[in-house]
Amino acid sequence: MSAPLPEGIERVLFTEEQIARRINEVGAEISARYPKGIKLIAVLKGSVFFLTALAHAIETPVKVDFLAISSFSNQPKAPGLVRIQKDLDHPIEGEDVLLIEDIIDSGFTARYLLQTLAGRGPNSIAICTLLDRTSRRIVQLPIAFRCFEIPDHFVIGFGLDYKQLYRNLGCIAVMNPDKA
Ligand code: IMP
Ligand code: MG
Repeated sequence: MSAPLPEGIERVLFTEEQIARRINEVGAEISARYPKGIKLIAVLKGSVFFLTALAHAIETPVKVDFLAISSFSNQPKAPGLVRIQKDLDHPIEGEDVLLIEDIIDSGFTARYLLQTLAGRGPNSIAICTLLDRTSRRIVQLPIAFRCFEIPDHFVIGFGLDYKQLYRNLGCIAVMNPDKA
């Protein structure tokens, strides 16, 4: 059971079952690519829901760590300005790291994190995102694993929020903030 669909929902993009199936596929790809194991790093809070499901789908050893950022990438005055509010608990030197994202939109947030973490000497670092909205990309960056490409609409559910709500929806849905 998960939360009922809120007001303002236009349509369900991906059902709980579709998400679970796709995460299993991507988990199998990751297991094959990293036979010795992988450290998953998620950005609080949205990506935690995806990290948890993905970790269950990976069959090689998994470590997890978290960081929190403040992002101003939607503000015209400071595009791309990102700051780490809570850093990782452990070093990543010499480790194979996957940066787990809920959605990559402009790409500013992921690029900042990729560059910052790459500077700490991991053995490898790559991006794994639940959703990718390439139509709004401003900075190009390599995405090693992606569950779904989505159209240019605001979405909620499975970790994604509107004003901090709806993260607990099991599906991913298109939202019209004017009707919320
Ligand atoms: P970027 O830096 O523009 O790629 O922004 C990515 C971040 O913006 C994500 O990690 C989300 O927190 C947030 N975001 C972007 N699009 C959506 C959306 O459709 N729904 C909810 N959050 C979003
Ligand atoms: Mg967010």
